[in-house]
Amino acid sequence: MNDSPSSLVSCHSPRVTIVGTGKVGIALAQRIAEKNLADVVLLDIVEGMPQGLALDLMQARGMELHNRKIIGTNNYADTSGSDVVVITAGFPRKPGMSRDDLLLINAKIVVESAKQAIAHSPDAIYIVVTNPLDVMTYLAWQATELPSDRIMGMAGILDSARFQTFIAMELGVCPSDVNAMVLGSHGDLMVPLPRYSTVNGIPITELLGESTINRLVERTRNGGAEIVGLMQTGGAFFAPASSIYVMVEAILLNQSRLLPVSAYLQGEYGLKDIFIGVPCRLGCSGIESVLELNLTDIEMNELRVSAQAMRKTIDNFI
Ligand code: LAC
Repeated sequence: MNDSPSSLVSCHSPRVTIVGTGKVGIALAQRIAEKNLADVVLLDIVEGMPQGLALDLMQARGMELHNRKIIGTNNYADTSGSDVVVITAGFPRKPGMSRDDLLLINAKIVVESAKQAIAHSPDAIYIVVTNPLDVMTYLAWQATELPSDRIMGMAGILDSARFQTFIAMELGVCPSDVNAMVLGSHGDLMVPLPRYSTVNGIPITELLGESTINRLVERTRNGGAEIVGLMQTGGAFFAPASSIYVMVEAILLNQSRLLPVSAYLQGEYGLKDIFIGVPCRLGCSGIESVLELNLTDIEMNELRVSAQAMRKTIDNFI
């Protein structure tokens, strides 16, 4: 059997390229293949690493009952014609670091990855995952000159999933019965919205006291750092991979799902020229629309503070 990358490309299978074979990238590749969503191209600069990981995933196919192709490569030419490109490349946090501490080191990696990827997949939808997420998405958008509905960052789904988990744990209910909503930047200034978080339609403000909700909100804001602190080397990757999967699936299956993602704002929520987490409708063309929620003055102010901090980071960097 010829196992060169070109022989593994199917004619009409959707194709997802994952740039970066850290734990998030690998967990995502496994989900996409084993849930039979798309063929996967794993790309990394480390020679042999993506090839080895791809071969390992290929060898699991018979047991996992799917026939998705997974190829590993160091060459962007092998990613051509992707439907979705997910950029996870970059360095993760160490204990005590904020996501913003990664800015300088990861900006170069993300911009370079985005430029290379767009040259081979100009029609793809791009999802940026590397931290600091919202700033990296902005830089990748500038580097690719993509229309803003075709590039977005993953974070709101993860932050909302963490809030969902803590609410479910507190109430002793199934997490899938809980809908939680977190807006804003992916960092200490994220904006969890208890008013828009419900258990099968019942607002959590009717089920939990204020101090309990505040405790869950704080734990959500600290959700990534809590895991980094426990693991000491590396950080979360299972829930991040699940969160990206949800976005890729919404796009490839044209689900028109309403999900919080880091999207380019052009006046929505009174914010402009910034990527920040807001509820969006996601389908095959990318971000179909941004939903403007009615926020209270306090919630709106938190979102504004989150946006201002990010604007400052972008302005200092550019
Ligand atoms: C986290 C990383 C993905 O929040 O930012 O775990």
